[in-house]
Amino acid sequence: MSTPSILILPGDGIGPEVMAEVRKIIDWYGAKRDLGFDVSEDLVGGAAYDKHGVPLADETMEKAQQVDAVLLGAVGGPKYDDLDFSVKPERGLLRLRKEMDLFSNLRPAQCFDALADFSSLKKDVVAGLDIMIVRELTSGIYFGEPRGIIEEGNERVGINTQRYTESEIARVARSAFELARRRGNKVCSMEKANVMESGILWRDVVTEVHQAEYSDVELSHMYADAGAMQLCRWPKQFDVIVTDNLFGDLLSDAAAMLTGSLGMLPSASLGAPMANGRPKALYEPVHGSAPDIAGEGKANPIACILSFAMALRYSFDQGAEADRLEEAVEKVLADGVRTADLLGEEGVDPVSTSQMGDAVIAALDASI
Ligand code: NAI
Ligand code: MG
Repeated sequence: MSTPSILILPGDGIGPEVMAEVRKIIDWYGAKRDLGFDVSEDLVGGAAYDKHGVPLADETMEKAQQVDAVLLGAVGGPKYDDLDFSVKPERGLLRLRKEMDLFSNLRPAQCFDALADFSSLKKDVVAGLDIMIVRELTSGIYFGEPRGIIEEGNERVGINTQRYTESEIARVARSAFELARRRGNKVCSMEKANVMESGILWRDVVTEVHQAEYSDVELSHMYADAGAMQLCRWPKQFDVIVTDNLFGDLLSDAAAMLTGSLGMLPSASLGAPMANGRPKALYEPVHGSAPDIAGEGKANPIACILSFAMALRYSFDQGAEADRLEEAVEKVLADGVRTADLLGEEGVDPVSTSQMGDAVIAALDASI
């Protein structure tokens, strides 16, 4: 197979700072594991607007469609707050998701033992937690028609429509079952079939896909509100959770926060398989461009580094190397290395963004 290709879009604010650390790690894999990548870099968000007057140039969009994986830092910042909606930095990211048709959004909630004290939950509730929320990303109530604000009688009415086709549900369900087979082999599907017809269809289609193609995976169903309660009560009961766009937005944010800091959270957005069998894929940290600390070398690069670990696993079939990278991060944290956002204890001096990256590299070196 030809050398796997990656398009790096560092973006704005701390995006370029955290991506510089990922670059080091990509280079490490080339030098030390004989795992070379064909890496190109381009602009997105405010950085693209400054150069091209649009938050994502057409050439960049085309490149994104051709590579095996896109890695994105973050977009946005106060400098761009007054721009017209159509050219806001976020539109660059939305265009990527839409045109690549990235319907399956993977949001892990994973608790590193060294950070278990950081959680707002009791340590034994979160220690060792490793669950994955799969959120449908391209349909549902954020996109359904009719929508808008209309006049009715003498008042205004706000309208949004939850709409899911069978094929939209089936494809995200498949993505969740495939993931479960590589993890704990359990899927819990969440909707509100008790009050929403779209929820009834969701439950039916997930069940049909399960029976026809994935009966080896354990499937359960939960109403999304009960699921939210269970996530706070005993999250370790779950392995993979699959849910729609709206519930997934809320549940994935809540689940992620069980484990502590925004600077630690990776994500992947996957689409349909390309000709080479790899899915269209965009990997990015959950956090934004953090203008309050940008340029100061304080940002935690781990969310972005763990996003690359997801790329190794889901785009490049390098599960063992993804484990290696995650274990390196775990070791660095266990050794007490902390960026400023992870400081709890007194008397620990924070390391810089690049020192954290170097510590991960040292742990990688020690692993071979
Ligand atoms: P944010 O995630 O950028 O920052 C929230 C808080 O967390 C800040 O105090 C920040 O310093 C801290 N933080 C975030 N990432 C960190 C890291 N890696 N290390 C250490 N501390 C970190 O969210 P905020 O402030 O609401 O938005 C800032 C800008 O980012 C806005 O322009 C927003 O539109 C954009 N944004 C972009 C996203 C993306 O590119 N996917 C997602 C969320 C926001
Ligand atoms: Mg959200």
